[in-house]
Amino acid sequence: MKIAIIGSGYVGLVSGTCLADFGHDVVCVDKDEAKIANLLAGVMPIYEPGLAELVAANVKAERLSFSSSLAASIEGAQVVFIAVGTPARRGDGHADLSYVKTVAHEIAANIKSPTVVVTKSTVPVGTGDEIERILAASGTPVACSVVSNPEFLREGAAIGDFKRPDRIVIGAEDEWARNVMTEVYRPLFLNKAPILFTSRRSAELIKYASNAFLATKITFINEMADLCEKVQANVQDVARGMGLDNRIGTKFLHAGPGYGGSCFPKDTLALLKTAEEFSSPVRLVEAVVNVNETRKRAMGRKVIEALGGSARDKRVAILGLTFKPNTDDMRDAPSIAIIQTLLDAGADVVAYDPEGMEAAARLMPDVTMATNVYDAIEAADAIVLVTEWDAFRALDFGRIHNRAKAPVLIDLRNVYDPAQAREAGIIYTSVGRP
Ligand SMILES: NC(=O)c1ccc[n+]([C@@H]2O[C@H](COP(=O)([O-])OP(=O)(O)OC[C@H]3O[C@@H](n4cnc5c(N)ncnc54)[C@H](O)[C@@H]3O)[C@@H](O)[C@H]2O)c1
Repeated sequence: MKIAIIGSGYVGLVSGTCLADFGHDVVCVDKDEAKIANLLAGVMPIYEPGLAELVAANVKAERLSFSSSLAASIEGAQVVFIAVGTPARRGDGHADLSYVKTVAHEIAANIKSPTVVVTKSTVPVGTGDEIERILAASGTPVACSVVSNPEFLREGAAIGDFKRPDRIVIGAEDEWARNVMTEVYRPLFLNKAPILFTSRRSAELIKYASNAFLATKITFINEMADLCEKVQANVQDVARGMGLDNRIGTKFLHAGPGYGGSCFPKDTLALLKTAEEFSSPVRLVEAVVNVNETRKRAMGRKVIEALGGSARDKRVAILGLTFKPNTDDMRDAPSIAIIQTLLDAGADVVAYDPEGMEAAARLMPDVTMATNVYDAIEAADAIVLVTEWDAFRALDFGRIHNRAKAPVLIDLRNVYDPAQAREAGIIYTSVGRP
C-alpha cells in the first residue's frame, strides 16, 4: 500500500519508518527542506534510539523515501497521514491548528485519486469535521474519507511503542475507511495489538482524555510526595503500596519535578479550552495544570533551600535538561523553569545533558553547557539531577565529593540511594523521601 506522511518530526518520521518496515511503500514529507536534505543524506533530525538504523534499512529496501513536495508525494497514495505539530497557541492555550489546516488545503488542491486522509496529529474534537469541510469546499470531485488515528508513542521508546502498541484507535465514519485502515495496520494484528474502531470524535477525545489522565496520575503522586515530606513518609513506598493494587497500577506514579514535554502540557491546556468551548468544565484537569505549573518553579526553590536559602553567586550543576531521558526534545522541559528560578535568584548555572544541549543552548543562553557530567559538577555548590538519563544513575559519589566544593545533591527523580549518598559525605535531598 502506498502511504504518504505529511510532517516528518518525532511522530511522522517514526510512524512512516515503522509503516515502511511493515512492508508498506512510504514517503515522508516535510516542508523543512533542510530536514529532508539531511534525511536523504542519512542524517536524523531527532535523537530516538534505533531510528537511524531502521530508516537506513528501509531506505535501502526502497520502501521508504523522503520529499519536500506534498503534491508529488500524495499522488497514488491510498492513505495520507497528517503528522504536523499542534502546539499550544500563544496567549490562549488553544491547539494551534494552522499547520494541520494548511496541509488539509494542500491535500485538497492536489488530490487526484480516492484517499483516506488520517490525522495522526493530536487535534481537538471536531477537527476531522473541519478537514472534511476544507476538502469539500475545494470542490475536488475525488472521494475522500477523513479518519482520526491518534498516536500514543512515547519519545525514547517510540519504535517499540509503534510496533507493539497497547491499542490502535481508529475513528472512522464509513466502512471503506475502516477497511483501508485495517489494511494499514494488518501487520500489527499478528502481534495481537487490539484495534478499537470508534466514531471520529470519540477517537479525537480518547487522545486528550488519555494524556490528561496520565498527567493527573503524575500530579497526584507529586502532591503525595510533598505530603510525605511533611509527615516523614516515603513516597516510593506509598507509590508501590498503591500501585500493587491492579485497579491503580504502578506506572506514572514516580514523583518528580512535574510533567513536561511535547504533549502533556499543551494537550491538557487544549482540553481545558475544548471543555470551556462546550461549557462542560473539567475542573480536575484545571487543577492538574495549575499544580504542575507551580511545581516546576517550586523545584527551583527547593534547590535554593538546599543551598541554605540563597543561590546568589552559587554554582549549580544541572544534570539532564530534556523533559525525559532518551530524547533530545526540550519542549516544555521542567529544567527550563527550574533553571530560570535559579538564574533569577543569582545562581551561576552549568548543565550537562547527553543529547539535549544543542536544543537547550538556544533556549537558555545564560547557562554554561559542560562537556561531560564531571566537568559540570566541578566546583559546584549544588548538583541537581533533573532528568534521569542512565548515564547519571551510576554517578561516582567519591568523585562528586572530591570535585564539588560542598557537595549538595538534589535528586529530583529519586534515582539515588539516600543512605549511600550520605555515607559518601554528600548532603542529599530527594522528592518525598526522608
Ligand atoms: N512527540 C510525541 O511524543 C507525540 C506523541 C503522540 C502524538 N504527538 C502529536 O503528533 C503531532 C506531531 O508532533 P511531533 O512531536 O512529531 O512534532 P514535530 O514538531 O517534531 O514535527 C512536525 C513536523 O511537521 C512539519 N510541518 C509543519 N507544517 C508542514 C507542512 N505544511 N507540510 C509539511 N510538513 C510540515 C514540520 O516542519 C515538522 O518537521 C502533534 O500533534 C503531537 O501532539 C506527538
